[in-house]
Amino acid sequence: MLVLPLTREELLDHLPKGRRIAEIGVARGEFSTELLARCEPAELSLVDHWLAEPGATVEYGDQAEQDRRHVAVTANFTAEIGAERVRILRQSSAEASATFTDGTLDVVYIDADHSYDGVRGDLETYMPKLAPGGLLMDHDFARHKTFDFRVIEAVEDFARDTGAKVVAMTARDAFPSFVMTNEVVGDCRDLISRLLAEVPGIVDVADYPSRLSYASIHVLDNADGVNLVPRFQTRQ
Ligand SMILES: C[S@@+](CC[C@H](N)C(=O)[O-])C[C@H]1O[C@@H](n2cnc3c(N)ncnc32)[C@H](O)[C@@H]1O
Repeated sequence: MLVLPLTREELLDHLPKGRRIAEIGVARGEFSTELLARCEPAELSLVDHWLAEPGATVEYGDQAEQDRRHVAVTANFTAEIGAERVRILRQSSAEASATFTDGTLDVVYIDADHSYDGVRGDLETYMPKLAPGGLLMDHDFARHKTFDFRVIEAVEDFARDTGAKVVAMTARDAFPSFVMTNEVVGDCRDLISRLLAEVPGIVDVADYPSRLSYASIHVLDNADGVNLVPRFQTRQ
């Protein structure tokens, strides 16, 4: 796995343009805007149920706030929706998955339910939707001081159980994103080549997650932004 001295937004600049992308978990659409601008997708599907969920791993506000977010995201992308470049699916991630034929998405960005079962469920559901060499990205690959994020455990177990490959993670975010694939071919192979050619300071962690686990992080905040010092340890 490549540890990238990039933010998740900077990583998008290295992704191929003109692809079919789905973002699972949209909230206010801030990252959707980045996906649209930086990846110039042929098609961007935005999936969120915009539901108040008392007791969820993270609560995103009451139902009135959720409704406001849905209205704001829809308004923000009016032109792109009209041009059939963006579509908004106000559904659960599981329900919306029926919209996508297996093997047809080039990039899936998952940032929805951060519980173990939520992350694992989304990985199981959306990995088959990827084209060969497609990129499945997931956000918040981190512990959280307040919330019980289980992204790391779910991703590592999923990769070990299914043979999915964890290809890269960002290390200039306090809450990193990572990239997985079904096969290192096509877009994924090209992405790796481009990153190695264009980004100085990448570290390649071998045997992750087969023999290593992502243990903890040290975050350094400085004038240039966030610098993560990822720590990997032998699996217990
Ligand atoms: C962290 S926010 C997304 C932030 C967004 N990706 C960004 O970076 O700007 C998580 C969102 O996932 C949505 N969500 C959580 N569980 C979901 C589920 N099972 N199905 C659909 N959406 C879900 C929540 O409503 C919330 O808006």
